Amino acid sequence: VTPVQVTDVDLAPLWSGLAGIGRSPDTGGYRRFAWTPADLDCREWFRAEAAARQLAVETDRNGNLWAWWGDPQGGGAVVTGSHLDSVPDGGGYDGPLGVVSALAAVDVLRRRGVTPARPVAVTVFADEEGARFGVACVGSRLLTGQLEPDRARALTDPDGVTLAEAMRRAGHDPQALGPDPERLSRIGAVVELHIEQGRALADLDAPVGVASGIWPHGRFRLDFAGTANHAGTTRLADREDPMLPLAVTVLAARAAAKRHEALATVGRVDVRPNATNAVPGRATAWLDVRGHNERIVRAVVRDVAAAAGVPAAEESWTPEVNFDGSIGGRLRGAAAEATGADAPALPTGAGHDAGILAAAGRPAGMLFVRNPTGVSHAPAEHAEPADCRAGVAALAEALARLASG
Ligand code: GLV
Ligand code: MN
Ligand code: MN
Repeated sequence: VTPVQVTDVDLAPLWSGLAGIGRSPDTGGYRRFAWTPADLDCREWFRAEAAARQLAVETDRNGNLWAWWGDPQGGGAVVTGSHLDSVPDGGGYDGPLGVVSALAAVDVLRRRGVTPARPVAVTVFADEEGARFGVACVGSRLLTGQLEPDRARALTDPDGVTLAEAMRRAGHDPQALGPDPERLSRIGAVVELHIEQGRALADLDAPVGVASGIWPHGRFRLDFAGTANHAGTTRLADREDPMLPLAVTVLAARAAAKRHEALATVGRVDVRPNATNAVPGRATAWLDVRGHNERIVRAVVRDVAAAAGVPAAEESWTPEVNFDGSIGGRLRGAAAEATGADAPALPTGAGHDAGILAAAGRPAGMLFVRNPTGVSHAPAEHAEPADCRAGVAALAEALARLASG
């Protein structure tokens, strides 16, 4: 196979169909929460793009989309893709860059006359961010048996809608949810391309990198009870104000993260009734903790819960992932060949479906595309078009090699 040239790639037509979907006019960020109309529109966009390429699209029992180039039953499939859902006011690249690049890589390989010996599947994993129901990577966890279907169905969004109901409204049967070992057994390799969510590649002056592993991380909920009362008449001594332990918790998270050389974030709170002139009746904080190893992460959570004076209930947990060394080596070789630059290996604190599949024993790896500012999960997330083209070139080369036999 001739190396794919970076200049072969035009991503603009793919981006144009996605750019307007679920974009908030206030912030410019995306609100594509799982199974909402914006998410469904993204999924429709994917179906149309796959159909335009004569890729046969199927929805698996867990709501993940698979667009096949080659025979789905062929075995040893090379799976590439990412997700289309977003965090609240997320950037345009986290997730979609991997899907757009996968479709573009198929185009590039076809233009080069490549016929893969193994089937290639472009995938969209459902509900990766967990922004609506609280658990990350729901689609890939269900597929791999890392999330109980009963627990998944019972997850609720902030309006009290269950995941089961949200799926039903979106036309997907929630009774179908569950592990899919037969489908997993047909996967030979997984490559997820993703925008880098830090500044490492910018610092290293490299357009494309390869993930070495994912830090263990989890999400925890802390509930604070209080007594709702009047802000102007309730004496300080008489107050049971849940905002006080919540404030202590936020500061304790920062201190514990520093002490243990980890990361801890309180990025979401729910305060009731959320009135300027009322002492709140209750408050909830969500704590996100990530670190080099599980011991560190657990120590942070323990310290924060002790300071908070309430338990930290685990809502989502992702063990440490070390990506397959052989896939990583092949990705680095393909990226170097396609871009002419070294592709450094980087660990990341961000979760990904490729990590869930790796944890299920599938040989998996990831390509990262440089993000000049490192900003992610925010509207300022960005990758330069030339770097996105380099990412597609690297991915196409990697797919050609992995699917060649
Ligand atoms: C997913 O983006 C996560 O790491 O939270
Ligand atoms: Mn994300
Ligand atoms: Mn992502």
